[in-house]
Amino acid sequence: MTTFSDHHFGSYEDTGDGFSITIIENMKEEYGLFVWPCSIILAEYVWQQRSRYTGTTVVELGAGTSLPGLVAAKVGAEVTLTDDSNRSEVLIHMRRQCDLNNIKCKIHGLTWGVWDTHTFSLCPNIILGADVLYESCAFDDLFATVAFLLQSNPSSVFITTYHNRSGHHLIGFLMVKWGLKCVKLLDGFTFMPSSKTSSLSGNIQLAEIVLDTANGNKKN
Ligand SMILES: C[S@@+](CC[C@H](N)C(=O)[O-])C[C@H]1O[C@@H](n2cnc3c(N)ncnc32)[C@H](O)[C@@H]1O
Repeated sequence: MTTFSDHHFGSYEDTGDGFSITIIENMKEEYGLFVWPCSIILAEYVWQQRSRYTGTTVVELGAGTSLPGLVAAKVGAEVTLTDDSNRSEVLIHMRRQCDLNNIKCKIHGLTWGVWDTHTFSLCPNIILGADVLYESCAFDDLFATVAFLLQSNPSSVFITTYHNRSGHHLIGFLMVKWGLKCVKLLDGFTFMPSSKTSSLSGNIQLAEIVLDTANGNKKN
């Protein structure tokens, strides 16, 4: 069943710089055709830190309905939305989200742990990933891709939201394995406006992850 959800950022009355994004969802289909709570929280974080995005290049991994990436594009970033290359219906859906909202983004298949020539050319300043740490068997591939992208631009950062159930120990272990470190860890609900939390539940964390230059990953 196809539905539309509207997501508001800021307020025209207060600041004049707010906007809304409409997302097409399909509840019965793939994971990537539904706006997961982690996506709402990450999108709000992008909005609240919008000055950070001006003039940057952003890659969203496992973007699905792509709300965080669309907000980043609205506030001035050059955005590439990516999802599993094997899920063409998700990639087609991402194009629809951009067209519906009249937002320009590049869209590419990017399967975690798989490298193609396009992946080598990305070099983002900021990597976004909402609810991409949900299947522990895929964590290693995801971290391999994140580490590669961070190494391609050593001042870059991976900003991710995930459910606490997703295995803190494994995440900690894989950060060490891939030469990464967490520089910020927030409870996702601490910065959400109350108007947005009523429909959300769970224990959602937001982490900012960078290369651990002191332990193996040297900046060039
Ligand atoms: C739980 S959904 C989250 C979607 C969206 N980020 C959100 O929060 O609404 C996980 C997303 O990761 C994508 N994904 C899963 N495995 C992947 C892989 N191996 N490579 C790339 N993307 C993958 C799925 O297609 C899906 O869009």
